[in-house]
Amino acid sequence: MKKIVIATIAALAVSSTLMAAIPRSCNACHGDDGSKNTVKKDLVPNKLSSAEISTKLHAFRAGTEGTVMKVMAKPLTDAQIAEVAKAWAKK
Ligand code: HEC
Repeated sequence: MKKIVIATIAALAVSSTLMAAIPRSCNACHGDDGSKNTVKKDLVPNKLSSAEISTKLHAFRAGTEGTVMKVMAKPLTDAQIAEVAKAWAKK
């Protein structure tokens, strides 16, 4: 029984890392698909390529760029940044 519980917890931990979801908090300003910016209307994430989104988020997280985004990007993991870059990039 104990083994099953441990195995289940381990499996959940692995799957949540793999499926690093985009935080729900982002959509307040950017919508679910990065198609908006309610604060700075011309800086819409889904006009950028996936590489540009990734570069921006790393700079925001490092605190070298951005205003609001310095705070918003702080808790992001590398996996979440990769996920946002993939999901929101211009198609
Ligand atoms: C309170 C509003 C707000 C929230 C919430 C927010 N952002 Fe932003 N976002 C901005 C603003 C404002 C900018 C412009 C840069 C700056 O001033 O920080 C921006 C810029 C960006 C950009 C670059 C767009 C460009 O064209 O330069 C990306 C990518 C981005 N945000 C992703 C995210 C992600 C991912 C989250 C969730 C972790 C998030 N944002 C949450 C307001 C927000």
